[in-house]
Amino acid sequence: MELMNVDNKYLQRVLPEITETHLKTKVLKLGFIGGGSFGKVFKAELSDGNTVAIKAFREKGAHREEAEQLEILAKHTSVKMPEVLFVYEDEKVAVMGMSFIEGSNTLNPAFLFKSRKQKQAFARAVIQGMLEWHSITGEKFGDLKNPVYNTWAEYYRREKQEPILKGLADLSEKGKFSRRKLEILTEATEIFNRIYEETAAPVLIHGDLNIMNIMADVKTMKLTGFIDPKGTIWADREYDLFQLLNMWGNSFGLYETYKKAYPLSEYADFKVAYYGALHEASMRLGGGLIMPLWEDLDINRLKNEMKKLRRLL
Ligand SMILES: Nc1ncnc2c1ncn2[C@@H]1O[C@H](COP(=O)(O)OP(=O)(O)O)[C@@H](O)[C@H]1O
Ligand SMILES: [Mg+2]
Repeated sequence: MELMNVDNKYLQRVLPEITETHLKTKVLKLGFIGGGSFGKVFKAELSDGNTVAIKAFREKGAHREEAEQLEILAKHTSVKMPEVLFVYEDEKVAVMGMSFIEGSNTLNPAFLFKSRKQKQAFARAVIQGMLEWHSITGEKFGDLKNPVYNTWAEYYRREKQEPILKGLADLSEKGKFSRRKLEILTEATEIFNRIYEETAAPVLIHGDLNIMNIMADVKTMKLTGFIDPKGTIWADREYDLFQLLNMWGNSFGLYETYKKAYPLSEYADFKVAYYGALHEASMRLGGGLIMPLWEDLDINRLKNEMKKLRRLL
């Protein structure tokens, strides 16, 4: 994987000119607004009165991938998403310009203090928007443009389970990943492969719809937009749900609201916990930032679901 320059000072220097060339207007002000795991996002105020968001990506080519994902996802949900304004790359940076979404991402602790009613209305709006994607069915599972797998299990095993477990085993050999965690993930994999039944149709998923990628108005908690897709593929819809539990997503009842709106498969809680734990651990294999706290929480959730399942099976 080739990494690009995401140094804030460097970006502050080059992004105004890149933006001006593409949008044919002056950048009056450029300020860092967030990101870190996969990119850095800046707010640019333009002399034509518009405000846009400029994202510089850590991984070469990721700007094009995200632009394609945004364009498809935006077409299939009534929730607002950033409109792609331009993509640009040179030897040093990979950049995407997009429209600015008002509000704050919902990791903002201010949202934890909203009323139950506001949280419920928020959760319903998020799930409604998500269900619109999940109602778009494809022919096969996998890659957005070129899906080739006939079953989800085949896709998931080949593209996720096998490479991730192999990578984690190598890390563990070198003392860089806990043996205990690897054991839990390996045992959970055996259970998953035993109980997974193919019933799902391939549907369009966002792939990274956690509360950092959901925007809302700080005062009213009204949903203002979905941003930042990653891993947008044709999948079993349940694969899109572990992100709803990530961080403090469940304080807003997102996963529970989905379950109420759409009946999930048997053992879905275990499957979703498994997807989440394996995904978080896979962050150690490159790409994103490693968050040991989230990883521990995900492994604990998985352990609990395994306990519950043992009682059932
Ligand atoms: N189009 C946008 N409009 C307004 N804010 C944005 C936009 N895109 C990103 N942000 C802000 O920047 C943060 C990081 O952006 P994001 O695309 O999620 O980066 P990463 O890929 O590193 O997670 C978001 O959580 C959000 O607060
Ligand atoms: Mg994000």
